[in-house]
Amino acid sequence: MGMLDGKVAIVTGAGHGIGRGHALELAKHGAKVVVNDLGGSVKGEGEGRDADLTVDIIKERGGDAVGNYADVSDETASDEMIAQAVEAFGRLDILVNNAGIVRDGSIFNMSVDDFDAVIKVHLRGTWLPCKHAATHWRQLNKSTGEKVGGRIINTVSGAGLTGNFGQSNYAPAKAAIASLTQTLSLELYKMGVTVNAVGPAAATRITATMPNAPAVIEPDEVPEDEWNRMDPAVSSPLVAWLASDESSLVTGQVIRAVAENIILMKSWADGPTINNGGKRWDATKLGQQLATDVFHTRAPGLRY
Ligand SMILES: NC(=O)c1ccc[n+]([C@@H]2O[C@H](COP(=O)([O-])OP(=O)(O)OC[C@H]3O[C@@H](n4cnc5c(N)ncnc54)[C@H](O)[C@@H]3O)[C@@H](O)[C@H]2O)c1
Repeated sequence: MGMLDGKVAIVTGAGHGIGRGHALELAKHGAKVVVNDLGGSVKGEGEGRDADLTVDIIKERGGDAVGNYADVSDETASDEMIAQAVEAFGRLDILVNNAGIVRDGSIFNMSVDDFDAVIKVHLRGTWLPCKHAATHWRQLNKSTGEKVGGRIINTVSGAGLTGNFGQSNYAPAKAAIASLTQTLSLELYKMGVTVNAVGPAAATRITATMPNAPAVIEPDEVPEDEWNRMDPAVSSPLVAWLASDESSLVTGQVIRAVAENIILMKSWADGPTINNGGKRWDATKLGQQLATDVFHTRAPGLRY
């Protein structure tokens, strides 16, 4: 008996890398999978049938899957992707938003197109499938009067949580996905839908664009009994658990899965606070107190 028997999942960007790892893992635990992938380059140029590569592996391993070739940031195509899951397999339980591209460069060298394209695929390409899945689940919830128990798992990155040189498009897109996750967790929990985000780390086409990067690994190339800390499937067991009924009380969380570590991220939290006793602050005096009580640097300048 698999942990996800009877469940139907969509995994976006599952033709390669981490998404392929998630799709194989969900199928291993019994889910039927809609494998989405636009099939373009790592920069988001072109298109192809890369989703079929993952569908074939799932079928070879005895699972059930269908391909979807939508651009997740296209409003109509992402709606049709949700409909395809219901048509092909009769229901939708799990949405894993993983599709992504990179177009790195310092802000001086980054074109407006490179900014827009990355924000579009990551943020709009996560928001739209969330919107269509949530709408589908709400209709179901209204017609049955029962909680639907859906699961959304989004994909963030360390870059979005701490910032990263050369990624002024990608990092804010990923930070926005963390915020989207928290917001949707509040909006959807009443229907029994949880929304969490996973931050992976792996040797994929995306990391291969960075200097001194390890060679690309595809998850099916790593034997089941072999440990490789850069295997794109390293975060997939966490995704499978978050997709299961067992995780029903976990929502709005951002969790990184880096090699053997599972790290619960703390969101923005209040730090040192100063108070002016019900009066407006005087800007000329503020720096002194910020230096001593907040930033703990030498007054009067705030040196880092
Ligand atoms: N590799 C890492 O270390 C790392 C770290 C943190 C986060 N991530 C995130 O993990 C996710 C997967 O990336 P990866 O590293 O496996 O890279 P990858 O290039 O192997 O996989 C990304 C997949 O998304 C697909 N895709 C791109 N644009 C699409 C679109 N508009 N519609 C549908 N599919 C589209 C690509 O064709 C590709 O197959 C991304 O969201 C990435 O930002 C990766």
